[in-house]
Amino acid sequence: MGGGGLAVAAAGGVEFEAKITPIVIISCIMAATGGLMFGYDVGVSGGVTSMPDFLKKFFPVVYRKTKEDLDSNYCKYDNQGLQLFTSSLYLAGLTATFFASYTTRRLGRKLTMLIAGVFFIIGVAFNAGAQDLAMLIVGRILLGCGVGFANQAVPVFLSEIAPTRIRGGLNILFQLNVTIGILFANLVNYGTAKIEGGWGWRLSLGLAGVPALLLTVGALLVVDTPNSLIERGKLEEGKAVLKKIRGTDNVEPEYLELVEVSRIAKEVKHPFRNLLLSRNRPQLIIAVALQFFQQFTGINAIMFYAPVLFSTLGFKNDASLYSAVITGAVNVLSTVVSIYSVDKVGRRFLLLQAGVQMFFAQLVIAVVLGIKVTDSSNGLHSGFAILVVIMICTFVSAFAWSWGPLGWLIPSETFPLETRSAGQSVTVCINLLFTFVIAQAFLSMLCHFKYGIFLFFSGWVLVMSVFVWFFVPETKNIPIEEMTERVWKQHWLWKRYMIDDDEYVDDLAKKNGFADSL
Ligand code: BGC
Repeated sequence: MGGGGLAVAAAGGVEFEAKITPIVIISCIMAATGGLMFGYDVGVSGGVTSMPDFLKKFFPVVYRKTKEDLDSNYCKYDNQGLQLFTSSLYLAGLTATFFASYTTRRLGRKLTMLIAGVFFIIGVAFNAGAQDLAMLIVGRILLGCGVGFANQAVPVFLSEIAPTRIRGGLNILFQLNVTIGILFANLVNYGTAKIEGGWGWRLSLGLAGVPALLLTVGALLVVDTPNSLIERGKLEEGKAVLKKIRGTDNVEPEYLELVEVSRIAKEVKHPFRNLLLSRNRPQLIIAVALQFFQQFTGINAIMFYAPVLFSTLGFKNDASLYSAVITGAVNVLSTVVSIYSVDKVGRRFLLLQAGVQMFFAQLVIAVVLGIKVTDSSNGLHSGFAILVVIMICTFVSAFAWSWGPLGWLIPSETFPLETRSAGQSVTVCINLLFTFVIAQAFLSMLCHFKYGIFLFFSGWVLVMSVFVWFFVPETKNIPIEEMTERVWKQHWLWKRYMIDDDEYVDDLAKKNGFADSL
């Protein structure tokens, strides 16, 4: 998942002595496998569900529809079971995050990543060996559990093990790996679709075992984070690990701060209830809204169903996958743009600029499809088909340098320490919830709205851009610890929430004339 970098060890603005040691490099590789795994799962389903052999075996009804020309072009793939194949993973992931939040705290980051890896491996085995639909769905559910555990633990692990100065970069690096995973899956699908004999889809689903295995072995090899060890009372071990990962014996200041942070964190008895306090509300509203909006850009309609979408538009099977590969590559490259520009031009600029770009791209797609694809036509002429592919790439690139990474980065840098971990869980949950909604609904929506689906999403893009304009403050170059003073207290609306809740109760009581009774 975009790596919600939990900067749990808020360094109070101070940079501690830290080298980039081999352990830190291994953690980057961990990030890669966690992100790759998630991205691969996102990307693989679309290609597989457009493979005739796969459809013949598990969804014969859909297969027949793709062969007959009787039905509406837009409705060929409208099938609840087919959507469930894609969406079940996110529903399972959503449920798993609640357990993962517990295991991350109680059992540690390392063990939680190991649990994720094991879920992934068993899930891949079920999927690649599937004999019937039930096995297929069980496999997807197990993979979803893996995603739930990995997406909670890996970002926390990363941000705790990384020296402060590379924390932000690592955050987007995680998202970059998600996009590489998607591209990798598209490439694999492109290759396996050509395999004769009907087992290409098995290879596609089975190759997810590679990142799964890497994550599992990685989780066995790495040490747990000092934060987690200290949190679980293993103070000496925590200190030893800190020395090892920082590459220096001079870790006393950071160690003391970790102990202090862990003490404070333990005092927060109800982190989830704390999220609802008025001073924490703006961050909560923004995190929930960003994740909701991120999914309502319509990105996953493309990421999950690009090959299906392109084949709906009349591309031949091969050409559909080919276009999906192009979309995947644009996604990766544009994420790199974000890494370079996010701290220069700022979050708001990227979100607003991308809003305009996405809005127009979707509008053009809707108009072309509206005029050119009638229900029973055989798709687009090649000139228009190329225009649609270009517009889809225009849309994807804008998403990839804005809502993709920023939907994760902004929540991770705005929650104060007392609610950071609970805030991360909520962020992951909302993401998976609406990813599930889009995965489950898109093909039916395409069938009913037809080209209007793109107008639907462009409408949302307009709404979210207005939201950003009024409600999302700029957080570029502001240390996490200074957010309250420099960001929230300066904002025309959010500053009203920046009061102590005890103060708030007193104020209210005074206003209502019963201060003494409190
Ligand atoms: C989103 C995913 C999406 C991916 C596409 C992520 O930030 O959370 O849902 O598939 O970007 O690159």
